[in-house]
Amino acid sequence: MTQKNHFQGRLGSYIEVLTEDGSSTFTSQYFAENCHSTGGAFEETVHNYIEQCRIELLLAKKIECAVLDVGFGMGIGLYSILKKIEQLKNNSAFDVKTKKFNYYTVELDDLLALSSLQKIKEAFKLNDDDFNLHVLFLNIQREGPPYKGLIKIPLNFCAIKLDIFLFLGNARQTLTFDPDQNPQFHAIFQDAFSPKKNPQLWTVEWFQTLKNYSAQDVILSTYSASVSIRKSLLEAGFMLYNTKGFKHKKTMTVASLNPITEDFKHKYTSIDADILRSKIESLKDLPTYLLA
Ligand SMILES: C[S@@+](CC[C@H](N)C(=O)[O-])C[C@H]1O[C@@H](n2cnc3c(N)ncnc32)[C@H](O)[C@@H]1O
Repeated sequence: MTQKNHFQGRLGSYIEVLTEDGSSTFTSQYFAENCHSTGGAFEETVHNYIEQCRIELLLAKKIECAVLDVGFGMGIGLYSILKKIEQLKNNSAFDVKTKKFNYYTVELDDLLALSSLQKIKEAFKLNDDDFNLHVLFLNIQREGPPYKGLIKIPLNFCAIKLDIFLFLGNARQTLTFDPDQNPQFHAIFQDAFSPKKNPQLWTVEWFQTLKNYSAQDVILSTYSASVSIRKSLLEAGFMLYNTKGFKHKKTMTVASLNPITEDFKHKYTSIDADILRSKIESLKDLPTYLLA
């Protein structure tokens, strides 16, 4: 593990750290935490989100699908989705059904989001006709207050119309939809910083919001295996499953609204009863008078 460059974002600096699979992660100065496991930023994202949320199955079955990535950060969630699409499109035996892919994401640090999208554009050698970041660039000025609100960025990728809905600012305020525009998420990558550092994105109320915007066959996946987080998910109305975490991590959490019955390559153990019995409490939002 070697340290490299740093990036100056809106929330302070990010130190680049090379991880074991050759991809990089950032250590956020503001949150004092790494964005990914040093065991492999890309491989961890694939294990935790692409596989658990069954992105391959969505691409095989849904003409239109919707994914929410909680915490855009370095954009490795989006990068991994694009890699998966590219891989399946190059496989003549695989029929990609998806024509429209709605990718929703939230991010506090607008400068980080812009820089990460620029890197994705370079990595996939996308031109301005297929992926234009000009509007985002104009809205985000280094000087002045950070941009808050939704910016939609269309991306034409391997014959799929992939719309990026980027909600900048605090997701607890920005992620709202009119009732007739419910996104109906099929997959949720719950990838905020740890509950200790980033509590607002782990409460019962936050998970209730996510549930309200989800399709009945949604799968939410998270690296966290903490009992209080699991209890928050349960109280919000999700069913809970335990599965093997990335590399040396023993467990992680997969949550759904329908029971997970299909035989899949990962082993899922239902844990609702255990969590219900536990005396550990769920996380709740602070009363509004305590939120500055
Ligand atoms: C662990 S990192 C996500 C890494 C990202 N999924 C990736 O693969 O690069 C968590 C991200 O959530 C963002 N974040 C934290 N709290 C937030 C909030 N309240 N609203 C929106 N974004 C938030 C942080 O700025 C950070 O970029």
